[in-house]
Amino acid sequence: MKRDSYKIAVIPGDGTGPEVIREGLKVLKAASKKFGFRYKEEIFTYGGERYLRKGLTIKDKEISNLKKFDCIYLGAIGHPDVKPGILEQGILLKIRFGLDQYINLRPVKLYNSEFCPIKGKGPEDIDFVVVRENSEGLYKGMGKFEKKGTRNEVAIQISYNTRKGVERCIRYAFEYCRKRNKRKKLTLCGKTNVLTYAWDLWQRTFDEVKREYPDIQTDYAHVDATTMWFVKNPEWFDCIVTDNMFGDIITDLGAMIQGGMGIAAGGNINPEGVSMFEPIGGSAPKYTGKNVINPLAAICALGMLLENIGEEEAAKAVEDSVIKVVQTKLKNLAAGKMGYSTEEVGDLVVDNL
Ligand code: IPM
Ligand code: MN
Repeated sequence: MKRDSYKIAVIPGDGTGPEVIREGLKVLKAASKKFGFRYKEEIFTYGGERYLRKGLTIKDKEISNLKKFDCIYLGAIGHPDVKPGILEQGILLKIRFGLDQYINLRPVKLYNSEFCPIKGKGPEDIDFVVVRENSEGLYKGMGKFEKKGTRNEVAIQISYNTRKGVERCIRYAFEYCRKRNKRKKLTLCGKTNVLTYAWDLWQRTFDEVKREYPDIQTDYAHVDATTMWFVKNPEWFDCIVTDNMFGDIITDLGAMIQGGMGIAAGGNINPEGVSMFEPIGGSAPKYTGKNVINPLAAICALGMLLENIGEEEAAKAVEDSVIKVVQTKLKNLAAGKMGYSTEEVGDLVVDNL
């Protein structure tokens, strides 16, 4: 809810995370002056470097501490010297689960047809939002090995879906679609033809909840077909709701059709609690410290953060400013090809504000 002052937890993280967050914070400062709100930021050093120094990911009491903030702004988690999985599970997923951020909201919006890899598609065709369930499914970490290391080994990975978990996600998607007020269409993206336990529950829940939203047109697409439609007819989509794993996969494709990881942002949302906003790309070690990474994804994440805390005017201004930069300045959205440095792109956004 909108107030005079906000407490923002900042986790710059690894690799290019700190560089893009620095630009985001520059934009935040400018927005706060222009729109007259105050904030206090507190920086936390969770990430690969701290793990390598102290063997720590994030402690339970550090998670509890994050509950005191109005929102969290995250750069990137992932370090080339740390075995894959440790930081992702120990920090990123631990925060998502620990704060029950059960929605992962990922807008897919093309700002300039020049940066779209699909021939003949423009901003009017690519403008949709993926509502990804963010607390269950295959990400629950349930499963086991049997006869590990033998020729008869079996590895079991369970997709865990609760009625409550599925329903709160679907309900959020309907509400979001209504509030967004564009084409008012919500597509359930699943795999009802094969995954007949999980997707039976999803489909039944979707069919029940949709009765409460007669103003929203509904649709269903299998996940494999969804990836095809993203490329062939992206204009068919307005809002999409899906589970954690499918949402992870289709939003990387979504990021590509909107211009790449340089522009794709997302929010890990607990509608009743503390939410966290991040660029959806990784820590990009090979670009670290070179002042070449595109900060716009992080700046778009900041825009989502502002909307979430109730500073809707500021959020809109940040997005409009990003659009202007993408339409009139940048040569390319990829790292090192923008025609500007990371810092200069941040400055361009601030100037437009
Ligand atoms: C994402 C990322 C994470 C995920 C990884 C880093 C655990 O790919 O935010 O999409 O799978 O959710
Ligand atoms: Mn992902």
